[in-house]
Amino acid sequence: MTFPRRLAFAASLTVLAAAAQAKAPMPQLVQQDGRHALMVDGAPFVILGAQAHNSSNYPEALKKVWPALKDLHANTLEIPVAWEQIEAVEGKFDFSYVDTLVAQARQNKMRLVLLWFGTWKNTSPQYTPEWVKTNNQRFPRMIDKDGKVAYCLSPLGEETLKADKKAFVALMGHLKQIDQDQHTVIMVQVENEIGTYGVVRDFSPRGQAAFAQPVPQAVLDVQKSPVRLAASGSWSQVYGDYADQYFHSFAIASYIGEIARAGRAVYDLPMYVNNATRDATEPMAPWKGNFASGGPTYDVLGIYRAAAPRIDFAAPDIYGAESAKFKVLLDQFQGLTNALMVPEMSNAAGFARYVYQVLGHGAIGIAPFGIDYADYSNFPLGSLSTAKDMVEPFARIYAAFRPMERQWAKWAFEGRTYGLAEGDDRAEQSLTMKDWKVSVSFREYQFGEKSWFPQVKEAPPNTDKPNGGVAIAQTGPNEFIVIGQHARLKFGGAGANGGKPTMLLRVEEGHFDATGKWIMERNWNGDQADYGLNLTANPVVLKIKMGSY
Ligand code: DGJ
Repeated sequence: MTFPRRLAFAASLTVLAAAAQAKAPMPQLVQQDGRHALMVDGAPFVILGAQAHNSSNYPEALKKVWPALKDLHANTLEIPVAWEQIEAVEGKFDFSYVDTLVAQARQNKMRLVLLWFGTWKNTSPQYTPEWVKTNNQRFPRMIDKDGKVAYCLSPLGEETLKADKKAFVALMGHLKQIDQDQHTVIMVQVENEIGTYGVVRDFSPRGQAAFAQPVPQAVLDVQKSPVRLAASGSWSQVYGDYADQYFHSFAIASYIGEIARAGRAVYDLPMYVNNATRDATEPMAPWKGNFASGGPTYDVLGIYRAAAPRIDFAAPDIYGAESAKFKVLLDQFQGLTNALMVPEMSNAAGFARYVYQVLGHGAIGIAPFGIDYADYSNFPLGSLSTAKDMVEPFARIYAAFRPMERQWAKWAFEGRTYGLAEGDDRAEQSLTMKDWKVSVSFREYQFGEKSWFPQVKEAPPNTDKPNGGVAIAQTGPNEFIVIGQHARLKFGGAGANGGKPTMLLRVEEGHFDATGKWIMERNWNGDQADYGLNLTANPVVLKIKMGSY
């Protein structure tokens, strides 16, 4: 069928106008009542992510990345863009890798979080171009207390900041050009695991002079500290033994804050920093070489907020396996003003259960690290395997979350989500929600109570190591969406329902379809509900209605 030309022209104008109107808003981090959402295409989005290995940021290497991401059922890839690769020659930018990456992400229906490996990558200048690495005069390294040159570039190097910023701004400008309509890139991490190992701050003459300056009022206003020797004054006068670390944090945060400001002025994507954490449970004490000084450790988040207002949040990279520390870290980073995200976590199988805990805490995202099929394993931090069995423990969980990812992100933003992971002690735990409480036990068979069968000595198969987890969204006063594995759940009343006898009214197993509609597959009753709701190794999604009498 052919349209008369005028009509066809009018029709195409209408299509164009609709497309212009429909242009999705920029990704954005929003906050309400202390909760956060990463808005993507105008609605809350949860990053079910994966971070590729450090050297997978080349077109050829990407071939081993996408299959792993697919196997994982991830929706987002976190991957480096290195300063050395976009500006090998000063002033000459090459974005061919970025172009390939964005095009392939689209083909694979994946979003991207780009990791800017610039002045600092795990504190070192290893990803800066050669012309930066080899010119200490122009790009000064830090000087330690004894006057020796340290490995780390100084955050007080004005030329370094200028050069890094120029490259970063060029990258953001390029992203704007190629991605402002589609938003394949949804967020940017500025640098990687910043801070300095072994040296607390820059003791160069420039460093000494800056250290003697008064602490800026913006820092005094927000930085909580175990000591406050004076209301104002120099870093030492105010913060005593914490002054060196705080000063270095301020120097790095200011540097990064300026890079983020300049980059966002060109193309305003959400930006964050990641952190090689300090021991979460150690009593607070001044730096003594036990973590990277100056990084966004949980104790200096106020300084980062004051000095880098265009950085949306700081996020912990978690490689310590102990469940107690994992939990404390989440609490430390999830402040009223800090969105929670775990941009890196070990890809060892035992970490899969933490996905439930992190997403239940209302995080905007999570990503195990080292998810690609390059022949490299960061064991013992992560899995020894570099093949499909490495992604499998995470993949089962992501597959269950994916169909409801948008709903989950919305519930998280509304403060309706809860989650836990089986502890190293294997002990029962509970979650208290509005007027309901759920106890969660582990290493249970599906039938009956443990006490009925003293003759059964051995634990259920595949439970030698902790691998249970549960995430719950309270979708209505008496309604819940539950997702989990290797756990037994028992609901009971709390708050207004406290002390009342309660019952399961309905327990539907099912899934959400592409339009967000719940599709029931079966109703759990009888054995399947009499002894608690028993979740096995295969993550299931349950829609539960509770009642009382
Ligand atoms: C944390 C860093 O941020 C990653 O880039 C990587 O080096 C891991 N440590 C270790 O594999």
